[in-house]
Amino acid sequence: MARSIAVVNEKGGVGKTAAVSELAYALGSQGHTVLVVDLDSQANASRLLLGRMGESQDDEPNVFHLLTQSPKLSEVWRPAADAWPNTMVIPGGVLLTGLEAALPRHMPGTFQKLKQTLAPAQKAFDYVLLDLPPALSLITTMALTAADCYLCPTDGGAHGQKGLQQIHQIADQLKTSGFNKRLACAGVFVTMFGKANARAMKAALRDLETEYGAQLLAERIPHTVKAREAERVGQPVGAYAPKSPIAAAYRALAAHFKEG
Ligand SMILES: Nc1ncnc2c1ncn2[C@@H]1O[C@H](COP(=O)(O)OP(=O)(O)OP(=O)(O)O)[C@@H](O)[C@H]1O
Ligand SMILES: [Mg+2]
Repeated sequence: MARSIAVVNEKGGVGKTAAVSELAYALGSQGHTVLVVDLDSQANASRLLLGRMGESQDDEPNVFHLLTQSPKLSEVWRPAADAWPNTMVIPGGVLLTGLEAALPRHMPGTFQKLKQTLAPAQKAFDYVLLDLPPALSLITTMALTAADCYLCPTDGGAHGQKGLQQIHQIADQLKTSGFNKRLACAGVFVTMFGKANARAMKAALRDLETEYGAQLLAERIPHTVKAREAERVGQPVGAYAPKSPIAAAYRALAAHFKEG
């Protein structure tokens, strides 16, 4: 059975897609099979992993079609570029901006739609990674209903704290209401960690430690130009600069998910 991990934070640009890309690489390059589901209308994860930076993919079936028209999963997933071994991608796309209007929000089945849609992936993959948009919307609730656990990158900024708390609240509601009793928090981790923001980060880390205790993971993803360089050449930083501190930090993060 696959382990499903939702990477979530309401705040934009904190490294959600980067985490999905690096986890897919770290797990896939060790021989695990990975499905990346891009739930973001920006489709950054799909463009990166499919090797199509800058290209529109809106004429192809994507996760919107899966959720609204129910084609087979295997008609929608496609192999990632060679840089991400053993990885398939279900693309996101701009149509996702209209998902709330296209699905009956108040029908009890709507929250479970993604979980049901992804059920065939449970046997076909070792990991399912869900990349979320910077919003707390229906898609976030659907992803947290489908996931085994959720992982929250944060850049330590004050604006992101409220969003993180809200994610934990949604998760608690899904657990207590029975929509997803087994949902677990895989942790909160700090991204964009660097000298330039060292003082603010120190304060943020204190707050995060108080709030999340052991759920605050020790891995700190450094802020480095290597992230953008790797993105520009269409590679995970784990492959582009395997000896760099950022690659090591993501490998350590991935190790949390390689349980027996
Ligand atoms: N550790 C890092 N150091 C420097 N830049 C980074 C780092 N991680 C990611 N970036 C860059 O920051 C930008 C935002 O990262 P990313 O797309 O992963 O964030 P996101 O949370 O998925 O954003 P969104 O909420 O818009 O989906 C990207 O251009 C990425 O290359
Ligand atoms: Mg993103």
